[in-house]
Amino acid sequence: MPMVIAIDGPAASGKGTLAKRLAAHYGLPHLDTGLLYRAVALTVIDAGYNLDDHQAAARAASALIVDRLADPRLRERAMGDAASRISAVPAVRAALLSWQQRFAGGDDGAVLDGRDIGTVVCPNAQVKLFITAAPEERARRRHLELARRGENSPLSAILEDIVARDARDAQRSTAPLKAAADAVVLDTTALDADEAFEAARAVIDGARRH
Ligand code: DC
Repeated sequence: MPMVIAIDGPAASGKGTLAKRLAAHYGLPHLDTGLLYRAVALTVIDAGYNLDDHQAAARAASALIVDRLADPRLRERAMGDAASRISAVPAVRAALLSWQQRFAGGDDGAVLDGRDIGTVVCPNAQVKLFITAAPEERARRRHLELARRGENSPLSAILEDIVARDARDAQRSTAPLKAAADAVVLDTTALDADEAFEAARAVIDGARRH
């Protein structure tokens, strides 16, 4: 049976880096589902609509073009917040759900990372990981990542963003951010990327033996 690995967690928890590495290690296709929400937000903004326009957001989600996922603007700080806002719209989530499930349902298996992969998108995934870390540590990592891309925002502003985004993502009524009951929670506050990878690999290899 093809292996599906579901990775969820709050903003800047390191789940994206981890998911990419796990996908390479196990030879699985990888989908960063946050990019889908970011691409919908960018489409709405580029078309001149307000982010509170739920109909425009739902239309953008239904017509999402995969080419958009390569746009470097998707990684900008403002786009994380914009994505979080439109991701609370149920019609946006519904439009993206089948897309994600098709990706996960391929013959090769898959690694998907996001907020609701283990709970909603792939409730039958063989392995579910919930990656978390203290907000201050996540802000420090995101600050470094943005600086590497030439976007220099104050650390305090990034921490505020992260706390606000977590609250919005966890409190929305449709598919909120939360660990699935059968997810293994991995707190990476004191782990570097290699240690987080090894810890995740141990969980996955353990699950595959059963
Ligand atoms: O993982 P990210 O920072 O790129 O995600 C951006 C926003 O998209 C996040 O704050 C909430 C939303 N999102 C979601 O609601 N469900 C997902 N599976 C992935 C992202």
